[in-house]
Amino acid sequence: MRATAKHEPQCEPQLEIIMCGIFGYIGPKENSLELVIKGLQKLEYRGYDSWGVATELDGELFVDKKIGKISEANLDDFKDKKCNFAIGHTRWATHGGVTDTNAHPHFSSDKTIAVVHNGIIENYEEIREMIGKENFVSDTDTEVIPQLIAKYRKEMGFKEAVLETIKKLKGRYAIVVTNVGENYLIAARRGSPLIVGVGENEYFLASDIPAFLEYTQNVNYLDDDEMVIVDGGVEFMNITTGEPIKKRLVNIDLKAESAEKGDYDHFMLKEIMEQKESILRAINQDTDEIMHIAQMIKNSRGCFLSGCGTAGKVCMAGEYFFSLIANRHVNFAPSSEFPVYHHFLRPESLLIVVSQSGETADVLEAMEAAKKKGCKVLSIVNSEGSTIARQSDFSLHIKAGVEKAVASTKAATSQMALLMLIATAMVGELQEGRRLLAEVASQINDMLNPRFLTYIKDVAERIKDHENCYIIGKAENYPMALEAAIKIQEVSYVHAEGFAAGELKHGPIALVTEGTPCISLIANDEVKSDTINNTIELKARGAHIIGISPEKHEVFDDWIKVPDVGIASPLVNIIPTQLLAYYISVLRGLDPDMPRNLAKSVTVK
Ligand code: F6R
Repeated sequence: MRATAKHEPQCEPQLEIIMCGIFGYIGPKENSLELVIKGLQKLEYRGYDSWGVATELDGELFVDKKIGKISEANLDDFKDKKCNFAIGHTRWATHGGVTDTNAHPHFSSDKTIAVVHNGIIENYEEIREMIGKENFVSDTDTEVIPQLIAKYRKEMGFKEAVLETIKKLKGRYAIVVTNVGENYLIAARRGSPLIVGVGENEYFLASDIPAFLEYTQNVNYLDDDEMVIVDGGVEFMNITTGEPIKKRLVNIDLKAESAEKGDYDHFMLKEIMEQKESILRAINQDTDEIMHIAQMIKNSRGCFLSGCGTAGKVCMAGEYFFSLIANRHVNFAPSSEFPVYHHFLRPESLLIVVSQSGETADVLEAMEAAKKKGCKVLSIVNSEGSTIARQSDFSLHIKAGVEKAVASTKAATSQMALLMLIATAMVGELQEGRRLLAEVASQINDMLNPRFLTYIKDVAERIKDHENCYIIGKAENYPMALEAAIKIQEVSYVHAEGFAAGELKHGPIALVTEGTPCISLIANDEVKSDTINNTIELKARGAHIIGISPEKHEVFDDWIKVPDVGIASPLVNIIPTQLLAYYISVLRGLDPDMPRNLAKSVTVK
């Protein structure tokens, strides 16, 4: 849609809860629109409902926005549109319909100011009333931003108008603003990620680093309540005081290829295959730091583990590692539930949060609850410089490399490896822990061979048309049963559920009928015979048993052999389930990298 197109009929405005990717460029390159679209394609994992770009062409605001995936944008449409700056957006929406008009960028009625936004403006209704509802064309909260800037712009400079507008906004935002006639970009953040990439006389403003990684590895992280004005240079300021801020330039140790698919059909498969190296990077941590963290846990009175979704299941596995290896009870709570436990928190408590993106809103809320009680927070993240990393007292980086598929795979095994390493350090066995985990990485390397993949694909072929699938595990493999269910659900839309093996007889076994695929996660440990017995109970009800285990058993209809790695069994048992989820998705004709209704970085509560 062009900015000049006829307005669609007005609907009642709705809070637009968005995760989204935003990207802006300013510099000597004249193909800014193409550059921004290509950058947004690298952020597509953040949202793929609609996309849009804006710049100035022939002295007028040019806006093009559409529903659909940014990966389907036709770059040829933008080849002859020369401009040295542009902004763009790829949207993930849960409220506020997926329409061309609701797509970003949004612009002022006089079509001089355009804005891309990630977040929620809570007081948008009040601002709409103040400006006059009749001036609005979209159903979004975001549109109040360019409208308010335009209103203030009549009385003051562009910079001042943006600052004045931001001061009026309540809620969470990362925004990039541009204005016809004044060829510079202004960005600001509160609660949503925004990073400034600093190249040679050129600047990038993005929700995540892969958007600009091929141009620069030097970044400035914008903190909450900060604004940046980008033209020939960068000028940072505090939004509340208007005072200038000096920022440290950080060099990111990431290669552009790490954010590309390479020869793989999907990022999910590439990331599963990378686990042989990513685990090694995760355990390659500074010994003093690990010892310090081990001591922090030992000294704490009340230690909690928290994360969401897959990261939450990793925390549950951590609970078992700390108990089995370090003889220490650590309490797990999903981050969305964690604040409920605030009665148990005290200044001597420690909260360990686990997050791939480092931006998950529920995790940030859990951290806030802990900090209010004076607790220390340790984070285990994959995104250095992320909000969670910067807001914790101590942060460890798992170094898994860019994880782009929505379904988390390599980040999860790296997080588990690191939690296990810390547990071994707590009992003075860090070197042994390192050796065991290095051995696990090498075994995973051997396991992930083409024959293994073909075999799992065959198993997936047998399961793919079933609407239900159950997974069981006991002890440290119980969280893996839950995690395997998440993987299968989210990429293949098969109804999958994980259970503690011993719980079956208390209800869930009623779900099993002739041929129902049931995956049994087994390790060579003290609970092995219990799990086998529970598997036999399933088989007796007609289940088709897929055994993931180091040893074969007659109860298995399909046996997926995994290496025997002792207490580290969750790290190897989870891998075939990731592959099963992947192949079921592909065989069902789905795109495993972009499951419906989901986005990679969940920056809303
Ligand atoms: C599932 C998945 C999600 C994330 C969850 C937390 O495959 O990826 O369940 O684990 O949204 O995200 P992070 O780890 O970024 O905090």
